[in-house]
Amino acid sequence: MQLEHRKIVLGICGGIAAYKCPELCRLLQKQGADVYTVVTASGAKLVSTATLQALSGHPVGSEIFTAADNIGHIELCADADCMVIAPATANTIAKLAHGLADNMLTAAALAAPCPLIIAPAMNSRMYRHPATQANLEILKQRGVFIIPPADGPLACGESGIGRMREPAEIAAYICALLNRHGLPFAENTLLPKPDAPRELTAQKLLPTASGAGLRVLITAGPTEEPIDPVRVITNKSSGKMGFALAQAARERGAEVTLIAGPVHLPTPAQVNRINVKTAQDMYDAVKAKLDDVDIVIGCAAVSDYRLAYVYPQKLKKETQGDSLTLTLIKNEDIIAMVGHANPRPFTVGFAAETMAGEAQAKEKLARKNLDLIALNDVSRSDVGFNSDDNALTVFDRDGKIADLPKAPKAVIAAQLTELIFNMVQSSRGTASGNKE
Ligand SMILES: Cc1cc2nc3c(=O)[nH]c(=O)nc-3n(C[C@H](O)[C@H](O)[C@H](O)COP(=O)(O)O)c2cc1C
Repeated sequence: MQLEHRKIVLGICGGIAAYKCPELCRLLQKQGADVYTVVTASGAKLVSTATLQALSGHPVGSEIFTAADNIGHIELCADADCMVIAPATANTIAKLAHGLADNMLTAAALAAPCPLIIAPAMNSRMYRHPATQANLEILKQRGVFIIPPADGPLACGESGIGRMREPAEIAAYICALLNRHGLPFAENTLLPKPDAPRELTAQKLLPTASGAGLRVLITAGPTEEPIDPVRVITNKSSGKMGFALAQAARERGAEVTLIAGPVHLPTPAQVNRINVKTAQDMYDAVKAKLDDVDIVIGCAAVSDYRLAYVYPQKLKKETQGDSLTLTLIKNEDIIAMVGHANPRPFTVGFAAETMAGEAQAKEKLARKNLDLIALNDVSRSDVGFNSDDNALTVFDRDGKIADLPKAPKAVIAAQLTELIFNMVQSSRGTASGNKE
């Protein structure tokens, strides 16, 4: 049994697939889980609450204002291992994305301190609608686990994407997710099934290394070096990896400061974000914080050079002629400054290389006096810059210590954070491996 001693809250919305929920409840129980159910008013029209109550052995949560069932919206998930909403309707997904809490299910989800998993199910046009996709993206960025719907015949008579995954698939996903807890780092590759959709197999780890008591500073995104009032020199960094690291570190209980170059990504919950533009701004912001942090992760793609002279007025081709020469001067190396600081925090750099990666990464690690360096092969179009996936090789001073194969950035961020926190905690002689 894979879910022994687990409490799972199953939220059921008003989608036709709600009729499959008694089976999902049963499958979870078969693995040993104690299942509590909560339904929306529409959900209650499509699945029998009497059945859910009889199967689960617990009252079905539905109304916020009922003292009788004694399941408060705050308490419901307080000690749960996860909350799974299946089917998740377009309506409830929108509410979750925007923090609405107007029924027992959405209020419980908002108050849930545990992982939230949703299995969207709806007509294809509803699913593909930009509003639904934008809401799903918000949830994904926030670390909600999304089990994507399947393609196939839909209840409305049409065929297309929007079918809720089968209860057995959802149960398998929950088992895989919850059983990561406590696994040694090297074994966190049990998934994916090779033919399964990516999100279905996302291996985001549950916190196993605690960041409690650690203060982490992360730089993310590109920097911009102005040429004139309207033009800049920048690079293709999306900032996604650094933001994912900030979220992963925060989820593990660390106090996180994120120094972000110009990107339009939402700030992960409870992360202190400082926006900067130029490499010099970023250098100053990092330096100002240096005495107050235990770990620095330099994930930003910092411009190596800046303009020797920034034109105060917009350059015009009419006055510049056929060619224009710009003189660049070197920026300060931020992560090298951190690595050589005294006292210095545990220092992690990134090496984005297109060739001879390993040699370059090792050389950088030594020259910049880093503890770890994560090598990112940016010549690959399927990972790295602007991609939602990444793959890293991590080196310490003695050589390669981990290969993190291609996975969503949230997964890679979780793995790298685990690695760093375990190293820092064990170097401090603190017990690691504790859940926050
Ligand atoms: C028979 C029936 C089936 C429905 N199936 C779905 C569905 O699969 N997905 C969905 O997003 N909405 C579906 N709806 C519409 C939702 O029930 C409606 O948007 C409702 O407001 C959702 O409320 P809830 O999110 O609070 O459960 C269905 C409606 C009916 C009448």
